[in-house]
Amino acid sequence: MKRIWVITLFLFSLTVQSQTASDAKSDSYRMKAFVDALMKKMTLEEKIGQLNLPGSGDIVTGQASNSDIAKKIKEGKVGGLFNIKSVAKIRDVQKVAVEQSRLKIPLIFGMDVIHGYETVFPIPLALSCTWDMQAIERSARIAAQEASADGICWTFSPMVDIARDPRWGRIAEGNGEDAYLGSQIAKAMVRGYQGTDLSKNNTIMACTKHYALYGAAEAGRDYNTVDMSHQRMYNDYFPPFKAAVEAGAGSFMASFNEIDGVPATGNKWLLTDVLRKQWGFKGFVVTDYTGINEMIEHGIGDLQTASARALMAGIDMDMVGEGILTTTPKSLKEGIVTLQRIDEACRKILEAKYKLGLFDDPYRYCDDKRAKTEIFTADNRKEARNIASQSFVLLKNQGNILPLKKGGTIALIGPLADNKQNMPGTWSVAANFENATSLLTGLKEVGGNNVKILTARGSNLDYDSLFEDRAGMFGKSLHRDSRPPSVMVQEAVDIANQADVIVLAVGESAEMTGESSSRSNIEIPAAQKSLINSILRTGKPVVLVVFTGRPLTLQWEQDNVPAILNVWFGGSEAGYAIADVLFGDVNPSGKLTTTFPQNVGQIPLYYNHKNTGRPLQGQWFQKFRSNYLDVSNDPVYPFGFGLSYTQFSYGDLKLSSSSLKGNQTLKASIDVTNSGTRDGKEIVQLYIRDKVGSTTRPVKELKGFQKVELKAGETKNISFNITPEDLRFYNYNLKYDWEPGEFVIMIGGNSRDVKSGSVTWSK
Ligand code: BGC
Repeated sequence: MKRIWVITLFLFSLTVQSQTASDAKSDSYRMKAFVDALMKKMTLEEKIGQLNLPGSGDIVTGQASNSDIAKKIKEGKVGGLFNIKSVAKIRDVQKVAVEQSRLKIPLIFGMDVIHGYETVFPIPLALSCTWDMQAIERSARIAAQEASADGICWTFSPMVDIARDPRWGRIAEGNGEDAYLGSQIAKAMVRGYQGTDLSKNNTIMACTKHYALYGAAEAGRDYNTVDMSHQRMYNDYFPPFKAAVEAGAGSFMASFNEIDGVPATGNKWLLTDVLRKQWGFKGFVVTDYTGINEMIEHGIGDLQTASARALMAGIDMDMVGEGILTTTPKSLKEGIVTLQRIDEACRKILEAKYKLGLFDDPYRYCDDKRAKTEIFTADNRKEARNIASQSFVLLKNQGNILPLKKGGTIALIGPLADNKQNMPGTWSVAANFENATSLLTGLKEVGGNNVKILTARGSNLDYDSLFEDRAGMFGKSLHRDSRPPSVMVQEAVDIANQADVIVLAVGESAEMTGESSSRSNIEIPAAQKSLINSILRTGKPVVLVVFTGRPLTLQWEQDNVPAILNVWFGGSEAGYAIADVLFGDVNPSGKLTTTFPQNVGQIPLYYNHKNTGRPLQGQWFQKFRSNYLDVSNDPVYPFGFGLSYTQFSYGDLKLSSSSLKGNQTLKASIDVTNSGTRDGKEIVQLYIRDKVGSTTRPVKELKGFQKVELKAGETKNISFNITPEDLRFYNYNLKYDWEPGEFVIMIGGNSRDVKSGSVTWSK
């Protein structure tokens, strides 16, 4: 009986599979036929016009048809627009396209919806610290729902750049330093935005960026040169991009940096050979903002040369610079671009519009009712608050100062204690800052009436007001206080002396990370450090709540402050979420996805480094070993690290076999016990070291993780199935394969503290 069922189910699934495959086939035939017919009607200029994504300028509702941009739209010289907010404005310009241009081709509307729309989720680096793929996918789903309710059908996200250099401000926008974790997140984000059907009015097209290697800018300085081996690209930087292709991301954005001496925007190997030929990407590629024009400064030639080179390399759409629009007809005459490539690029853009359903209904995403009812809803905010509270990382909690009691007197001090504008963090283009919740509001509401809260500013962001201006752009001021620093500190010390516990809200402003926000010194700024010092001298218990978009150098804080909670920028609900964790309504469970170095001189410092021929064995310092005279090789907090209000202990690692062959599966298991007194969540991490290879291999690599919930006192056996698939890497010839030999299997609660065992695996 059981057998018959299995066979019936198998046959049924075959039918379903072949039906879906044939549906997909006929969909793509229909799309091809539609686009073929449309392209037959298009002039060369109209085809080139589709490749143009100009800056939107200031589009005023009701007057859009008189704008400069409308003139171009009417002439068929615009393929899409971006960062326009509101259904009314978007409808106005779409109307110009579909009523006043010759072929009535709808525009595509993009936006930097990076970590939420009006309901803002934590910055991506923070989101990654949840290690919760379902939560991350939900955040992208909600972002898509809200953005699509407001006219947007294309987002410039996910940003999947691996970054090992916390000086780089854009580390805040990515998912940290690990390629495996980054790949899982890339997939989750694409699924969240695009859902299963892009033509639905509540899904939007993803744009994976910045392709590629942008996070490896030399010296962490934005837009700087990148130069690395192909092995490192394939093993450590490319995987999240490849994962996004596999998840079906509809578009890609080229990065600003050069690769192998050729700007990514004009790099044919990157855009065509790797992306399209090796990975099978079928969508379209847009430049980054003026990426083509910047090739002139890179030293590649004039605008015509740069545009031709970009187009022929595989760029399909030109953001802002209009190089393709203005120079391509001439380049075609001169034979430096081909009609075939222009056609191909045009086809990709039209296909994207087709997939989004814009040809069926150009106003598909312009529904006033949805705009009124589906944005910044109570449910979305609840989800954002919940996810934010999972993204915070408890770095230290000496003497269990945390959680705080919902009683007594708390002194809340610091330049970030009562600020809304900075809570959403960098790249919150659609946010309404007035809707964000400050930490003060959160503490009052979650703490309730039995908590007395005293507040003082304590210090400005920094002593240097010019620095503070640079760090407070886009309406994210910290409202600088003009009083002398000593007066502010004294006021803070006075209220600290009246309190049972002090919460210091310090760190970076939102715009100290993000684009063009690199820092050469990644400490908490001096004015705030001095404040911390003065408050510590009161002898009262102190909790540091650190706002940051990057790993900071917190060695001094780790040595001197009893409790540290790293809260990144938690989004519109940050104030509530931080309070939820401070008061223990939520037990913190976030774990770092980037290494926190002791000082800037150690950078790049990342957990999956190579061993070298002279690794430090045993204690620092050793002469003629790979180490420094003045600092050990250790980070302050390693990759994967994060504490909880409870404790987790790990039993011995059990391996199902010590020698395996071919495609066998190894089971690695371990008992994890919640040995504390509160329920909590632990992120159990699996690392593997490939001891011997035809090329050198990292000292460990993340290969799996599980986020598990354990009641106080509970033990769970956690296991991972390991197959040769997990052992593969790109070798010297860039062949993706595994090599037989010895492997060290490690499981633990962070990349440093692991239980290990070893196996040999033959082919
Ligand atoms: C950034 C991109 C962004 C684009 C459009 C550029 O400056 O590098 O990440 O998507 O602007 O706003």
